[in-house]
Amino acid sequence: MNIIEVKNLNKSFGSNLVLKDINLSVEKGEVIALIGSSGSGKSTLLRCLNLLEKADHGSIIYHKKNLLSNKINIEKMRQSMGMVFQSFNLFENLNVIDNCTIACRLTKNEKKDKAEKRAIKYLKQVNMLDYAKASSTTLSGGQKQRVAIARALCMNPDLLLFDEPTSALDPESVQDVLDVIKDLAEQGMSMIIVTHEILFAKDVADRILFMADGVIVEDIKPENIFKEHSDDRVNTFLKRYNSF
Ligand SMILES: Nc1ncnc2c1ncn2[C@@H]1O[C@H](COP(=O)(O)OP(=O)(O)OP(=O)(O)O)[C@@H](O)[C@H]1O
Ligand SMILES: [Mg+2]
Repeated sequence: MNIIEVKNLNKSFGSNLVLKDINLSVEKGEVIALIGSSGSGKSTLLRCLNLLEKADHGSIIYHKKNLLSNKINIEKMRQSMGMVFQSFNLFENLNVIDNCTIACRLTKNEKKDKAEKRAIKYLKQVNMLDYAKASSTTLSGGQKQRVAIARALCMNPDLLLFDEPTSALDPESVQDVLDVIKDLAEQGMSMIIVTHEILFAKDVADRILFMADGVIVEDIKPENIFKEHSDDRVNTFLKRYNSF
């Protein structure tokens, strides 16, 4: 069963055609790693999926509805599709646990103790329960990102989107965050992860999609990632990683 199905998705910024007829189906429980050079359209694709950007045409079928139809309740849709950003985007005026509960309390009218119970479960899962009452400004980047993941999980999402979740982190924190994402993969969470961590993608993803100039040019089985690819842009991109 598909969790999301994208057909002929196009998006321009002015005269810059950034997404060119993107087709993408993600099965429930599948983990997709999205890789590619800077400016290839990876973030724009993710942002179109959860309607942070409005695609120009095509369709995005999610929960049997086309997200590009005018009848979509964006707020409700976002409750089931979480997004984790490179820059964490925590609410700096709130402590850790309030960061996790605020969305449920505001958008689902949930009672504080019920929301906190779930937040405690997910903060424990990301190893951040000890910091539940800490101000979010006192955390390291890796700690902030783990809280951001717990916050996303608190909404009980059916699909999680990650846009370079470890790119802003120091090397020591990267692995902590990758371990959390790997756990989620093992628990069957459906995820699309934009990442430059190729070894992580090889280890955790079911498929690795390579994007270039607004097109998904290769759909790669992880075990084949370091083999020769028919599109030379993939080889050039990956050579960097092989040369380590
Ligand atoms: N809000 C915007 N307004 C105008 N142009 C934009 C906007 N967002 C993205 N673009 C353009 O769309 C193209 C794709 O950008 P996008 O951020 O999706 O690339 P990316 O693959 O995520 O790159 P990176 O690896 O650097 O994050 C680029 O040419 C970029 O300049
Ligand atoms: Mg990007």
